[in-house]
Amino acid sequence: MSSNRPTPAPQLPLLASLRPDFTWGVSTSSFQIEGGAREDGRGLSIWDVYCQSGEIKNHDTGDIACDHYHRYREDVALMQRLGVQAYRFSVGWPRVLPLGRGLANEPGLAFYDRLVDELLAANIEPWLCLYHWDLPQALEDLGGWQNRESVAWFADYAALIATRFGDRVKRFATFNEPSIFNLFSRSLGRRDRASEAGLYRATHQVNLSHGAAVDVLREKIRGASIGCIHNLQPCWPSSASEADAAAAARVAVYWNYAFPDPQCRGEYPPEMRAAIEPHLQPGDLARICRPLDWFGLNHYSPVYVKAQADAMLGYDFGEKPADVALTQIGWPINPEVFDETLRLAHQRYGLPIYVLENGYGGIDKPDETGAVIDPERVDFLRGYIGAMNSASASGVDVRGYFVWSLLDNFEWASGYSNRFGLNYVDYLSLQRIPKSSFHWYADLIRAARQ
Ligand code: FCB
Repeated sequence: MSSNRPTPAPQLPLLASLRPDFTWGVSTSSFQIEGGAREDGRGLSIWDVYCQSGEIKNHDTGDIACDHYHRYREDVALMQRLGVQAYRFSVGWPRVLPLGRGLANEPGLAFYDRLVDELLAANIEPWLCLYHWDLPQALEDLGGWQNRESVAWFADYAALIATRFGDRVKRFATFNEPSIFNLFSRSLGRRDRASEAGLYRATHQVNLSHGAAVDVLREKIRGASIGCIHNLQPCWPSSASEADAAAAARVAVYWNYAFPDPQCRGEYPPEMRAAIEPHLQPGDLARICRPLDWFGLNHYSPVYVKAQADAMLGYDFGEKPADVALTQIGWPINPEVFDETLRLAHQRYGLPIYVLENGYGGIDKPDETGAVIDPERVDFLRGYIGAMNSASASGVDVRGYFVWSLLDNFEWASGYSNRFGLNYVDYLSLQRIPKSSFHWYADLIRAARQ
């Protein structure tokens, strides 16, 4: 591990308005870091299958990823060096239930036992997310989220996790970014499923699965603190045309409100009601809208949208205006929008907010001395954390911030080409190299906790 460290540490943002008990953390997800894909009885996930479809950049796969499955101790030690108080990870459903239901896989459960115990020994609170997109392929073969049985499958899976880990884990998220996986993973690999009717059917069943899992976790775990994690970002038209404005408005409703509105307000957004209606049974909205302890917010950037008549929801990503600042992977940088998004989540949902993902995607490389110097990521984090402090000053109840991500990892359809980590991962040697942003974030946490 490199000991190179740039000094002096770049200036920290204002933190004065954050709560004294504010939680600083990092986030990851199972498929993106674990590897060990064929080990110890793990079943296949839909992402193992997508990776064979030829649609992932460089034909990358999750077979080895960051090898976190074997290197979790080293990774927890990195978190300890960072000084984070919390770590959000996800359980790979096919690792613990290879066929998605039925017989549990003891070695898979034992891996998460070891991880949780290692975290607790390091005084880092585990935040366990049940679903970060790696559906067991065996359930996809039965229709996946299109099948109303998925509600029972997910509730049974939640019960297994609650029974096994509820003595040590108290923070649970049901889903990560349901609007994003419903919009995007559906068009990968299984194009036959990419119909709008299917999108709304799956949307409703994921919402019902959320409600069912909340009830199971609440019933089985004393002191459980439960939420769902939503990606909120404004969708802006990429031109002045009416068609682009209409497309942006349509996708904005789905992207931002299709899940948190029914889960936290007990109703679908008016624009979506006719499409949901065919799938709605009496009592469903009450099953979805269960009491929650917090709102998980993931935010990166505004999205520019253009009309695309033959695409799902009639939109596609559009050109970004030439004067917009971009990350190295082309995502707009706009901390003010983060402040606005925090206010919106606060006003619309009224729950304590934990920012469970925010971060900078780059194409980092070690320099000739082996150090990874990433001032762009530091600037990004400084701007966004500063914006969060402003939101907090204006009364937004924000209680935690987790950087995406602890490690560079498998960035879905972009494979390993996009790097979001505070630690660089050399995918040949699997060595982790803390980037300069790692040291900066460690300094920030130390300053904030003084
Ligand atoms: C989010 C995902 C996460 C990661 C980041 C960059 O949408 O939840 O897995 O890919 O984007």
